[in-house]
Amino acid sequence: MPVKFHKNILCIGAGYVGGPTMAMIAHQCPDYRVTVVDVDARRIAAWNSDNLPIYEPGLDAIVRSTRGRNLFFSTEVAQAIKDNEIIFVSVNTPTKTFGAGAGMAADLQYWEKTARQILTHSESSKIVIEKSTLPVKTALAMECILNGAEKNGIHFDVLSNPEFLAEGTAIKDMTEPDRVLIGSRETESGLKARHELVEIYARWIPREKIITSNIWSCELSKLVSNAFLAQRISSVNAISALCEKTEADVAEVSRAVGMDSRIGAKFLNASVGFGGSCFKKDILNLVYLCKHYHLDEVADYWESVVRINEYQQERFILNMLNAMFNTLAGKKICILGFAFKADTGDTRESPAIFIARRLMEEKADLVVSDPKALANAREDLKGASGSISFIEDPYEAARGSHAIALLTEWSTYRGLDFEKIYRDMAKPAFIFDGRNILDHQKCFEIGFDVYPTGKPPLTHF
Ligand code: UDX
Repeated sequence: MPVKFHKNILCIGAGYVGGPTMAMIAHQCPDYRVTVVDVDARRIAAWNSDNLPIYEPGLDAIVRSTRGRNLFFSTEVAQAIKDNEIIFVSVNTPTKTFGAGAGMAADLQYWEKTARQILTHSESSKIVIEKSTLPVKTALAMECILNGAEKNGIHFDVLSNPEFLAEGTAIKDMTEPDRVLIGSRETESGLKARHELVEIYARWIPREKIITSNIWSCELSKLVSNAFLAQRISSVNAISALCEKTEADVAEVSRAVGMDSRIGAKFLNASVGFGGSCFKKDILNLVYLCKHYHLDEVADYWESVVRINEYQQERFILNMLNAMFNTLAGKKICILGFAFKADTGDTRESPAIFIARRLMEEKADLVVSDPKALANAREDLKGASGSISFIEDPYEAARGSHAIALLTEWSTYRGLDFEKIYRDMAKPAFIFDGRNILDHQKCFEIGFDVYPTGKPPLTHF
């Protein structure tokens, strides 16, 4: 191990959070040696190649300038544990699919395996940092595993340091975060460990943005942040249903409400529903925790955020059916956008998956179009019975269709030539805008029957 480095940092888990976060630390702290390990050799090979396993604007440049200098990717987990004194744990904690808490609780098997691995291979005291999103009190279990064995004088301090980066803006979110959260035990060694981590982030983040707290508040804050963000979307989506009944316009309501500085304008765009790998998983995790502590009313409150999200997607289908004379059988429907949000190929928990499956149940013929997500869409719809094709070019995808369902807010969709699209569609031609990004009046004037979200429809009959 070269002596020139001030400290040696390890991250176990080279996924969406671990890889970019460590690249950023290596970039900002050239005197720290940062190693990222994973059991998945293919993923590590990709991190070591020109074709990184994750696409994030700005990530390539940072990895290129640090890799081989003070950033290393490897599969040598045991050796890396021995060599490093600060260990981030960033393994996946998906929703459990079996046994108690199936469909709700976090599956902690990879996380516990990692804790035991750290214990087995450590030959000196370490700081272990939870980076994965975990249920509150997980640090206690981590401490039990690591310190319970009383391994000849070795001590482990467990910290929590959740990640708040969003897909597509990860590098920006890490360069200028709203805040960095560091939780620890408030013992002498806990506070010392906390200080070590603060010093890393203080290299590029103003100290007033680095918040320290007790470890349980820290673990819980991550779940609650995501729950609050999702709750805002469900709140505005619930109001969108009311707007459709009352001729109010949800965009106007959002603007008026969001200008109250106590509420704020962000995350108030009505949509076909939220998706992504975090929101649903974290809320269900929060719900499970509340139930565990017999806080059933609190659990119900948060579960309703997920229920409204499902309702919004079901409502989208029912609006389509209703507008299209209560039958979709044999009609060609073009889905524009399959990713859970724009500028990513990620389709995890994308509302498009549910909507495509429901449309196929109605025996519609589907054409799915997306600039980046078609490979994932194919996987997601594997096994769904019915007629389906995947066409990247939106003009070709829409040709001959009875309706367009716009499900992702890709900016290229705003600039499409809708006159041309209209000419090539079956009549009457419908547009259902699940993201409210199109010029609805213009589409109506071209001849479409337009159904925005949370706004009065513009129809010709
Ligand atoms: C989210 C959190 O933002 C991030 O802090 C956390 O670490 C991980 O989860 P991400 O899943 O990448 O990040 O996506 P985000 O940009 O938050 O969007 C989530 C979903 O909400 C998307 O489907 C998006 O389209 C939807 N959304 C967002 C709306 O429907 N309306 C809005 O106003 C905002």
